[in-house]
Amino acid sequence: MNELLSFLNSHVSVRQFTDQPIDEDQERLIVTTAQRSPTSSNLQAYTIIGIRNQETKDRLAELCGRQGHIAHSGLFLLFCADLYRLSRLNAEKGYPFTGEYTEPFIVATVDTALAAGRALMAAQAMGLGGVMVGAIRNHPDDVAELLNLPPYTCPIMGMSLGYPATVPKVKPRLPMEAIYCREQYDSGPFAQAIADYDKIIDRLGHLKGREVNAGSYPDFAGDYSWSEHSARRMADLSPTALRPHMKSFLEKQKLKLK
Ligand SMILES: Cc1cc2nc3c(=O)[nH]c(=O)nc-3n(C[C@H](O)[C@H](O)[C@H](O)COP(=O)(O)O)c2cc1C
Repeated sequence: MNELLSFLNSHVSVRQFTDQPIDEDQERLIVTTAQRSPTSSNLQAYTIIGIRNQETKDRLAELCGRQGHIAHSGLFLLFCADLYRLSRLNAEKGYPFTGEYTEPFIVATVDTALAAGRALMAAQAMGLGGVMVGAIRNHPDDVAELLNLPPYTCPIMGMSLGYPATVPKVKPRLPMEAIYCREQYDSGPFAQAIADYDKIIDRLGHLKGREVNAGSYPDFAGDYSWSEHSARRMADLSPTALRPHMKSFLEKQKLKLK
């Protein structure tokens, strides 16, 4: 495997950081590398907000379910899907604006995620570690108010970055047969691949002590592995899992998904 491929295949999320600061050159290079991501029609429909202020990071950590790595990060990045910049262009030109439709929101969300993925890789390439933070959508109204987000924007994910204090082991993924089909969709191999994966995750103990809603499954007697964890995750109606506020938040942001 060449150097870049082995780098890409060594990804782990890091949640514990030393106090070593991230300098502004690093910050710029992370952001400009993220910008190099492909982007739909070159619209670049995202905005990244870099946060170093301790009070702001502390508040965001609280809003994200007390995730300590946010407060301890050297730099916290917020990735927002952003059609606001484009809405202003259209307003200036007196053109109609389609930002209320579903497809532009998908475009912006995909652009945002692609940029975030590359930002993380850029950080990792300079010896930093980090973790994406979907919990930024736990309280999007508060995040929007705290960070002054305009209409047509939506926080998609955050990212805690810093020098790793501890680096966890690489987490195995599903066998390729569970997520890759040739020529046509074929779910035939999925069950076996998932069963194989369950055994791997079980053996490594990745989900020990992380049972979803243990109290709701008193009769469960099997091995608590990836399939049980994921099924419970997808059955979970709790606000932090389902984030039922997202629909009204998007509407408030004028992202009406028409
Ligand atoms: C969009 C997104 C949101 C995530 N949100 C969180 C989060 O809020 N908190 C957290 O600790 N990890 C979060 N993660 C990290 C995942 O839990 C992690 O990527 C996954 O368990 C696989 O582990 P690995 O990245 O170490 O391979 C998120 C990952 C993604 C892609």
